[in-house]
Formats: sequence, structure tokens, C-alpha cells
Amino acid sequence: MSDKSSADIPSRRKFLGAAGLAGAGVALGARPLKAQDAPKPDPLITEVQDWNRYLGEGVAKRPYGMPSKFEKHVARRDVSWLTAVPESSVSFTPLHELDGIITPSGLCFERHHGGIAEINPADHRLMINGLVDRPLVFTMDDLRRMPRVNKIHFLECAANSGMEWRGAQLNGCQFTHGMIHNLMYTGVTLKTVLDEAGLKPNAKWLMLEGADASGMNRSLPIEKALDDCMLAFGMNGEALRPEQGYPLRAVIPGWEGNIWVKWLRRIEVGDMPWQTREETSKYTDLLANGRARWHTFVMDAKSVVTNPSPQAPLRHKGRNVLTGLAWSGRGTVKRVDVTLDGGRNWRTARIDGPVLEKSVVRFYVDFDWNGQELMIQSRAMDSTGYVQPTKDELRKVRGVNSIYHNNGIQTWLVRSTGEAENVEIG
Ligand code: MTE
Ligand code: CO
Repeated sequence: MSDKSSADIPSRRKFLGAAGLAGAGVALGARPLKAQDAPKPDPLITEVQDWNRYLGEGVAKRPYGMPSKFEKHVARRDVSWLTAVPESSVSFTPLHELDGIITPSGLCFERHHGGIAEINPADHRLMINGLVDRPLVFTMDDLRRMPRVNKIHFLECAANSGMEWRGAQLNGCQFTHGMIHNLMYTGVTLKTVLDEAGLKPNAKWLMLEGADASGMNRSLPIEKALDDCMLAFGMNGEALRPEQGYPLRAVIPGWEGNIWVKWLRRIEVGDMPWQTREETSKYTDLLANGRARWHTFVMDAKSVVTNPSPQAPLRHKGRNVLTGLAWSGRGTVKRVDVTLDGGRNWRTARIDGPVLEKSVVRFYVDFDWNGQELMIQSRAMDSTGYVQPTKDELRKVRGVNSIYHNNGIQTWLVRSTGEAENVEIG
């Protein structure tokens, strides 16, 4: 901060403004500016602004900090016609407003079947029963005294992009791809808790049950449970948000979001899957021949360009940054290719930031736009060598009756105005 009195700042600024412009002309080798074509002085540079003139709010006025008031448009949104009631519905992450790989806690998409349970952690219990040596009940304090781990993972709802099976429908990556978030979780491994209870030799499946009004439950095979699953009480360095299952949720890395039971209150150990209504009628992929795929847990490699996109049109010719997200439930993302001309030419995008197992990666393509129409697509390849398919390749195998597991390549048409649209290349 300057210790000069504010009174002498305006004149100094005006002087700097004039000298600065003349200097820039010389430095760039441009012709000398004539009086009539000299740019108008920019008051944002030449005038002292209020935020520079007056003291700001003091510390601790905002005990829990919120985003700037100029960021109000950055918000979760829902699609009114998608569901009958908000208690059993979904809101979408504004992917086109975000960067890096971590989803801000207040912007995570939400998917509830019975609304948000508000649970006092002092009243929360986790029971482990069934095929165990010692049925146990844990309080939150018990869990917090067990060895702790931190992991960054994406959670994608199996229904993400589910509206797009029959053709391009929703205009914005928030709605086509926004049923995903990527968070740093803190908690204990599921293995630690299961070891404490002691698994019987015939323990093969777990049933995870939520304490919310939907009492949601899902079956989880024991191999996965002992591999990399967590019981999380923290996200992004603080307690879980109520929307994300406070005070305790299951973290099932790489697998469809539905199994990540929130407000987790019970784990029953059994020797076969629980065939709940949810699992048999909903979380199956109906094929064209009337048969269905069942227990399709893993989320295959997928990617999406978040900018430009329908909610984030191009506003400038010349230099631009294209960016997006890629992920795979089978490992890490190895490569992302991007085309600007509907697949005629592909270039490998630059991945920047951490590349972690079962986490999203952030990719960029720095490009010049001269106002021509663009057909933008991205294609992810994961550490198993799997390459994200086109939507038509997917339809050939899976038909269009399903809602779930649509990981096909997304196309955005960018018009010469810079506006973008959700389209498919026929
Ligand atoms: N767990 C409970 N108890 N109740 C629910 O409604 N919804 C599931 C899963 N776990 C749900 C739940 C579904 S379908 C998804 S996609 C994820 O939670 C969504 O997690 P999120 O709300 O943190 O995005
Ligand atoms: Co879901």
C-alpha cells in the first residue's frame, strides 16, 4: 500500500496514463499517435475508483467467506421438467465456470432420493452387522480416532449425459455433463472398519444403507470394498456438506455415484448381492434387444470441453483458451485429444495439474480463432488403453433405451458469432 496521501494520486495517475500510452507506441514500433486517433483515456485507469478510495470491510465480518458478489451467476442449476419433485431430483455442477480439478464444495451437483438429511453428528451411528465376527456400532468420534487417509476422486452419477442417448438435447455442459464432482476426501478406509468387525469366510457382498428418508441402499462386492473404498467425513479440508451426506458417506472410487451412499448408517455383510428395487429396475442398462446390463459399476473414460460450450460462448477473436475435463473409473487419464473441425484434425491437449487415479484431469488447448465455425470434440484415453467412443459407436452396442453410462464423445458447434450449441455429427 502507498503511504502517500490520496490527494496527489489522481494527478500522478493522469501523468502516468499519458506517458504510458506514448511510451507503448514507441515500444511497439507503431506510427506516432495523432491527436484525433489517440485512444480515449480509460476512466478505470485515469480515475480513482471507490474501492481504492474507501476502506474496505474489516476482518471477521465474514466468519465463513463467500464468493465475490460478482460471481452470483456461478451456481448449481436444475432442469425443471426432469423430475416431479425437488426432494427426489438432481442439481448440476456449473462445469463451464470452474477450473483446475477440485469442485468447490458449494457447487457440487446433488442427487437426492429423499431430500437432504440434516443429522447432528452426535446422533449419528454406523452399524456393521451380518457375516462378521463382532457386530459393531461406531460413533463419529470413534471413526475420527481411527487411522485417517486423504484421497481425491471424482463421483459421476450413472445418469450423467443420460438425456443425450437419443440425440443432442440439453444446451450446456452443466446439464449434459454436470452430474460429476471431484473432491478431496478425508476419512478412514472401509477395510480398516471391516477388519475391526472381522469378516467371516463367506462374506462376499456388503449392503450400504443411508439414514435419509429414502433409506437408500446398494450392494458392493467385497473385493472392491477391501480395495480402495473409504468412509469419508471430510471433503475439501472441512466436514462433508449436508448435501454430500454429512456426517458420513461411502467413497467408492471410479464406480457409479449411486453406490456412494450418503448419510451412511449401516453396512450389512452378506454372501450375495441385495436385489433391491433400485438395483434391479433402475441401475441397469436396458439394451436394444430387451436384455439388460446389470452391475455395470465402473464409469468408463469420458471427457468434455467445458469452454467454449453453450453457456460459455467465444467472445474474442484471436487468442483463446479451450479447456475441459477428462476422467476414467479404471485408472488415470493418459491422453486427451481435441478436434476443432469435427474430427478431420486432432491435436493432443495439454494436461495441467495433478493426474491422479480415478480423479478428473484438467486439459487445455491454446488456439487462435479467426471467426470460422468450429465443431469441437474431445476424446479421452485412459491408462488401460481404452479410448472414449463416439455416441454412435456406443449406440451400436447399447441401443438408445438406456439412461445410464453414456460416455460418448460430445460435440459443440461454435458459430461465427461465437455462440455454441449442443449438436451431433450425423
Ligand atoms: N445416498 C443416499 N443415502 N441417498 C441418495 O439419494 N443418491 C445417490 C448417491 N448416494 C443418494 C445417495 C446418487 S444416485 C448419486 S449420483 C450420488 O449419491 C450423488 O452424490 P452427491 O449428491 O454428492 O452429488
Ligand atoms: Co446417481
